[in-house]
Amino acid sequence: MDFKDSIRVIPDFPQPGISFKDITTLLKDGEAYRAAIDELKALVAHLQIDVIAGPEARGFVIGAPLAYALGVGFVPIRKSGKLPYDTIEVGYDLEYGKDTLAVHTDAVKPGQNVLIADDLLATGGTIATSVSLVEQLGGNVVGAAFLIELTQLAGRNKLSGIEVHSLLTYED
Ligand code: PRP
Ligand code: MG
Repeated sequence: MDFKDSIRVIPDFPQPGISFKDITTLLKDGEAYRAAIDELKALVAHLQIDVIAGPEARGFVIGAPLAYALGVGFVPIRKSGKLPYDTIEVGYDLEYGKDTLAVHTDAVKPGQNVLIADDLLATGGTIATSVSLVEQLGGNVVGAAFLIELTQLAGRNKLSGIEVHSLLTYED
């Protein structure tokens, strides 16, 4: 299946010069969504994974079904102020804007093997922040999995030492 046929590209959203990869058109297609999760599962099948962590919001729609498919738990990494229990937080720069991500202090046990999953690797800021949060909890990040990687932004350079797996790549 060519998943690019299921992804809608919107030029100049949310601001001029950004070519937005709209995955809602893939998500609403049950066959494509399931096939994408199954292919991501195959890409990470060689890894020892105890739990998947995914950053809000689009990381949930990739990470949670992948966790279900692998039979492991899911840890939500959320934007600041959303999690009810004790948290740690890290601020970061986005391709457009700034934000803060948080995770519950007991979400990952020291020594657990964690795969981080998100829809898109762009500058790598979101995923590097997610790695930092997991590592602060003592988790061992064994890999990162994405539906889409924007290769020109070289986000994987922020993830040195971590296996990066992407289903699709775009040059912009
Ligand atoms: C988008 C996307 C990735 C991130 C990638 O999330 O879902 O998480 O940007 O960009 P980066 O590699 O430059 O960090 P966004 O923060 O727009 O929020 P959302 O997932 O809640 O829509
Ligand atoms: Mg996101």
